[in-house]
Amino acid sequence: MNTKRKLGVGVLGAHTWAEKAHLPGYAADPRVDLVAICDVVPERANAMAAMFGVRKVYSDPQALVNDPAIEMVDVCTPTDTHLELGLAAIAAGKHVLCEKPIARDAADAVRLARAAQAAGVRTKVGFTFRYSPALRQIRAWIADGTLGQIFHIHGLEQNSQFLDPLFPLRQVPAGIDFMPKHPIPQSIVGYGSHLVDLMRWMGGEFSSVAASMSSYIPQRIVRGYEGLQRINADDGTVALVEFASGAQGMLQTSIVAVGSYPGIEIRVYGSKAAAVGRLVTERGDAETLHFATAENVEFEPVILPASHYPPGTSLKTEWRELYYRNLVRIWVGELLEDGPPDGDFHDGAKSQEIVDACVRAHVERRWVDLPSGGHG
Ligand SMILES: NC(=O)c1ccc[n+]([C@@H]2O[C@H](COP(=O)([O-])OP(=O)(O)OC[C@H]3O[C@@H](n4cnc5c(N)ncnc54)[C@H](O)[C@@H]3O)[C@@H](O)[C@H]2O)c1
Repeated sequence: MNTKRKLGVGVLGAHTWAEKAHLPGYAADPRVDLVAICDVVPERANAMAAMFGVRKVYSDPQALVNDPAIEMVDVCTPTDTHLELGLAAIAAGKHVLCEKPIARDAADAVRLARAAQAAGVRTKVGFTFRYSPALRQIRAWIADGTLGQIFHIHGLEQNSQFLDPLFPLRQVPAGIDFMPKHPIPQSIVGYGSHLVDLMRWMGGEFSSVAASMSSYIPQRIVRGYEGLQRINADDGTVALVEFASGAQGMLQTSIVAVGSYPGIEIRVYGSKAAAVGRLVTERGDAETLHFATAENVEFEPVILPASHYPPGTSLKTEWRELYYRNLVRIWVGELLEDGPPDGDFHDGAKSQEIVDACVRAHVERRWVDLPSGGHG
């Protein structure tokens, strides 16, 4: 282990999420050398380089990928570009962090996972909420038996970010029919890819899902299009889950449920105890954690020690920065110290497979079993 060695990082995409989450995470970690940033809109890359002290700027992603000083490529570009850029980075032998969803469907996500495995590079998905100190504590309580046998897992990711039709809908695939018979998968993709990953991380493999998707806002501004568009997009999805362990789950994703962002809540009920993690900023705290036991059924708040937070952060740190600084802390540790994988492309592919199964369950009005075949 060489704790003095720095990790050479190159970031693809220099806009919203790079500025709010990725770059603050790297800039705060002394083990990171921010070598280069690239955007096809060069002024964005220049602005981010100046703001976060990045040494080089590229406008051609392949040039960044080829830079020998870069050991890890961070793909923080629109979803439709992830497959191509991820494969390019893997082909160059670089470790890759890719934003979620890593691909548009499970087949492409599996392609990425397999390419990384064959190349012997390490991967991570931008599953932001795995790096919540509260949710990591619940995961630890499940793993060490504190909660006992897990019976029920409830997962919510709901907020009103897109309640206003004038707030542009993002990540809609280019050129698609806006009025298909069934809603265009939206909340179940953007929010669901996080949520089903968290539920699978807590409860193990899903064995079957039944789901319903609904559209509530008939016209919206869609990023990249002029004026209001009539659009049948999934504003909310509900699903029932059977886990391979026998546990039951239920989940909801909604982009139109009144409440603050990110609006995640995970409740896990076991034979010995139960825990609730709520990732909703309230009275300045980024999240809360509550715990109850079979003997003391009144949920009590749990205050975690400072070691659960990246240096210089606390519950008062803005949630994007808190979770991404923790993600970077753990990911850089994985790479420099050969730690166990945590939220890699295999997990990204499994998440995508579950999202696809929820959509199929809605369209075909039936339970859909998992795994859907092709990968384990
Ligand atoms: N993990 C999370 O919680 C979370 C939150 C928000 C966004 N995201 C994900 O992060 C990704 C980026 O989102 P965003 O909101 O920053 O998008 P954005 O559209 O604001 O920014 C993307 C940037 O990438 C650039 N770009 C496009 N193609 C490129 C290419 N081939 N090479 C280099 N640069 C290129 C664009 O010019 C743009 O500046 C998306 O996949 C989104 O789903 C994840």
